[in-house]
This record gives sequence, structure tokens and C-alpha cells, in this order.
Amino acid sequence: MTTITIKTSNEYNVHIGQGLLTNFSVIPKASDSQAVIVTDDIVASLYEAALTKHLTECGFQCHSFIFPHGEASKSMATVTDLLQFMSSHHICRTDLIFALGGGIVGDLAGFAASIYLRGIRFIQLPTTLLAAVDSSVGGKTAVNLPAGKNLAGTFTQPLTVYCDIRTLSTLPEDIFSDGCAEIIKYAMISEKELLPLIKDGISKHLEEIISLCVSIKGEVVAEDEFDTGLRQLLNFGHTLGHAIEKCSDFTISHGSAVAIGMALMTKAAVKMNFCEEQLLQELLSMLHACSLPVTCPYTVQELYDASLSDKKHASGTVTLIVPVALGKCILHKADNQELYTMIEAALS
Ligand SMILES: NC(=O)c1ccc[n+]([C@@H]2O[C@H](COP(=O)([O-])OP(=O)(O)OC[C@H]3O[C@@H](n4cnc5c(N)ncnc54)[C@H](O)[C@@H]3O)[C@@H](O)[C@H]2O)c1
Ligand SMILES: [Zn+2]
Repeated sequence: MTTITIKTSNEYNVHIGQGLLTNFSVIPKASDSQAVIVTDDIVASLYEAALTKHLTECGFQCHSFIFPHGEASKSMATVTDLLQFMSSHHICRTDLIFALGGGIVGDLAGFAASIYLRGIRFIQLPTTLLAAVDSSVGGKTAVNLPAGKNLAGTFTQPLTVYCDIRTLSTLPEDIFSDGCAEIIKYAMISEKELLPLIKDGISKHLEEIISLCVSIKGEVVAEDEFDTGLRQLLNFGHTLGHAIEKCSDFTISHGSAVAIGMALMTKAAVKMNFCEEQLLQELLSMLHACSLPVTCPYTVQELYDASLSDKKHASGTVTLIVPVALGKCILHKADNQELYTMIEAALS
């Protein structure tokens, strides 16, 4: 097992290892302590019974709140149902919420926990690769509004994160690949010896790779907990990635779109002399090793229009995350004209 301490305003540990889901120690605060397990229907069918058994043995009275999987559930309506579920069981501040699942479960359960009784402690139990390396760490919680993704949320750090690598073995291939794209993103923003491990095969080195990614995210988040600057580095490949997701009407997955976004951004960076061609080749070889796509099926104008409708570009300028060397990206403020020129360079 590997343990990484995240040094945010509330310090906490992320534990990564085999079989942790039924093997972590958590001590109830009182003899009648309750645990609320929040999960989706797919994860529930795989892991809810084992977690309930473990928490019951620890001394908790358990209640499971299970919602349909998928982004449509990450809504205020589900939050309302969860808050009502908690109050109907008289959950109080000494009780605990367990977010068992991918990023959707983690974002939703974390958000509900952060507002219920003005804040109740929650533990993240990530079961997707993306949640393990990204969403379970850093304290961003959110749900979607009709106007867009993640528009209602809080910064609330979990009490602890337990990442059981064994749960990742049941992930469908495409969902595993989504996490691989985020891992390659970490290699591009802060290498830390990820490159050889990625090329050798992510599934062979899960504990080491997740630990490296969590420590990179931890360092960035500790510097910029409330997302006012440096944390934007974590968006490498995401500006164009989000545009590609949008152009595809969300038929291209987040990970695939980010993979294409990273490839485009790096190609543009080479053409505009921010970095060497060698960096593009390193990136492409990592993306190929993970069977991620690298070519964009859309035109310059389509990508540009989709990028502009992103909420972060409202002011007419956008912060682009531009790679300059392996493990180093810079934040580069660009106006709309420069954004267009970069997209043109990437697609030429
Ligand atoms: N808070 C953050 O910092 C942050 C960062 C990145 C992404 N996110 C959010 O994360 C969400 C995406 O997360 P995700 O990709 O984990 O999606 P997800 O939570 O929807 O999980 C993907 C699918 O995998 C299934 N699944 C989960 N674990 C499984 C397992 N072990 N075996 C088999 N199936 C399993 C789920 O039921 C779901 O159908 C988005 O809503 C995004 O906005 C948040
Ligand atoms: Zn992402």
C-alpha cells in the first residue's frame, strides 16, 4: 500500500493498494454511528455488499443510496433525493458518507456531504481509473445545471481516500482508457518518471502510476486549492478536448477527446516554437500505447466555435496550457485571434 498526504487546508491521506475496499480501518465516533454509502447501480451490483459487510463489521449501521449510473444523474434532483434520504435516517454530523464509485458518484456525494447540516465528513472510494488519479483528490465537488456541467459545487476536501486497485479490474476498456488519457496528461505537466511506466503498459504498474499522479495532483492542489492559477495546468488538453466532446454531441468520450486535445495542442506548440518536435513524438507514442485517438474529425471553424462557447472564455481571452518540454507546461493567455491561429496550426 502507498500513502500520500495532500497538504490542503484540511490535510488528508490518500491510500492506494490491493483489496483496500474491505480492509481499511475506520472507527465510528459513537456506538450508534451510521454510514451512508452513495453509489450508482453498476458499482452497487459489484461492490456495495462487500463494503456494507466491512463497515458493519467496523461497527456502523449502513444505509445505501443507489442512483442510476450516468452523467444525467449528476443533478440537483439527485442531490435533493440524497439529502432527503440522509435526513430520513437522521444522519448527523458524527456520521460518515462513503462515495463508492467513479467521478460522478464522488462529485455528487461530496457535494451533498458538503452542504448537509453545513458539512458532514465524507470518504472517497474511487472505483474508476479517472476517479483514482483525478476526481477523488483535490476537493472539487459539483453537480450539473441545465446550463452546463459542474456549475453548482463547492471546494470540500474528503476525510480520506481509499483507492482499491482491485476494483479497477472490472472496468470496461473504454472507461479504463478515459483514465489513461488523464495519466498521460500528468506526464506532460510533471513527468516524474511516468513515461517509461506508461509505455510499458499502465495496467502493469497501476499502484505506482496512480501514486505518482496523486502526488502530482496533490502538489498542484496544495499550491492552488481554490483554483485561481496554477491548478489550470490540470486542464492541459481540456480546452480543445471539451470542444471536441461538444462537436461530437458527447459521442466521443472525455478521455478520447482529451487525448486528441493534447495531441492538437502539442502539434500547435511545435509549429509555434514553444517546444521541440521530439515532445510531440513522445506524447503520440504514449497515446498509441494506450490505444487513444490522436486525430480530430472536425474543421478549424467548428473547433473554434465550440471552444468559444465554453464558459471559461466569456471575457474574450482564454488561458491555454502550452507544453514546452516533457513534464513542463506553461499557462499562456491568448485572445480569440491567437486561439484561432493555434487551432489552425494544430489542424494544418
Ligand atoms: N472533481 C474533480 O476534480 C473532477 C475531475 C475530473 C472529472 N470529474 C467528473 O468525473 C465524472 C466522470 O467520472 P468517471 O469517468 O469516473 O465516470 P463515472 O463515475 O460515470 O463512471 C463511469 C462508468 O463506470 C462504471 N463503473 C465505475 N466503477 C466501476 C468498476 N470498478 N467496474 C465496472 N464499472 C464501473 C460506472 O457505473 C459508470 O457507468 C464527470 O462528471 C466529471 O465532471 C471531476
Ligand atoms: Zn479530464
